[in-house]
Amino acid sequence: MSIATAIETERLMLRPYRADDAERVLDVHSRLAVIRWLDNPPSTPMADLDQARAWVDRELRREREDPLQAWRAIEVRDSGLVVGCVLLARLERIVDGFVGEYEIGWHLNPDSVGNGYASEAAAAMVRAAFAAGHRRLVIDMYPDNHPSAGVARRLGARELGEQAEPWYGDTSLMFELVAASVPRERRG
Ligand SMILES: CC(C)(COP(=O)(O)OP(=O)(O)OC[C@H]1O[C@@H](n2cnc3c(N)ncnc32)[C@H](O)[C@@H]1OP(=O)(O)O)[C@@H](O)C(=O)NCCC(=O)NCCS
Repeated sequence: MSIATAIETERLMLRPYRADDAERVLDVHSRLAVIRWLDNPPSTPMADLDQARAWVDRELRREREDPLQAWRAIEVRDSGLVVGCVLLARLERIVDGFVGEYEIGWHLNPDSVGNGYASEAAAAMVRAAFAAGHRRLVIDMYPDNHPSAGVARRLGARELGEQAEPWYGDTSLMFELVAASVPRERRG
């Protein structure tokens, strides 16, 4: 099974990235204030449109290689503006001998935070993930990433506390979602 390509919510369309998203991709990934939360240091800001196009190509390729992964542009239906990204990515770590857990993640352009877009997009992505056969998703973040923890809590994810991890400076605040806890779609 694979993740639905176009996912519509009340205000948003989640869709695969296209080459012409490169400018918005560059805008968000060139900001240290955003990317410092996404990975281990050192965070290197994206430098130009070529790097943004390469990012789009790489995420499309990763999904082709493993269709349970997905990177979706979050587009506001009214304006067409791409405000951020919601993703499902395989974590390369070993848990109880099992390799290949998946995480759900998100980021928004700073010009678009504070509208509920990340939570709305993530809830739809969780439903799509479980519809495609995922049974469990993890969410991990720097322990002081309060905005991201807020998204996880709005999704109804179960908090697992701080755990030793190869990411986020070796300690992550972890949450999990299991198939039985799929959030219902909010309709206005
Ligand atoms: C994490 C991140 C996506 C959270 O963004 P966010 O806008 O705070 O989260 P949401 O989209 O869920 O929006 C919730 C906020 O919108 C507000 N809001 C406004 N209108 C709303 C609406 N119609 N519906 C829901 N919420 C609304 C909520 O009250 C809340 O604000 P508050 O936190 O001040 O109470 C963002 O801070 C980010 O991109 N950070 C950098 C990257 C990052 O850390 N990614 C995660 C790595 S683990």
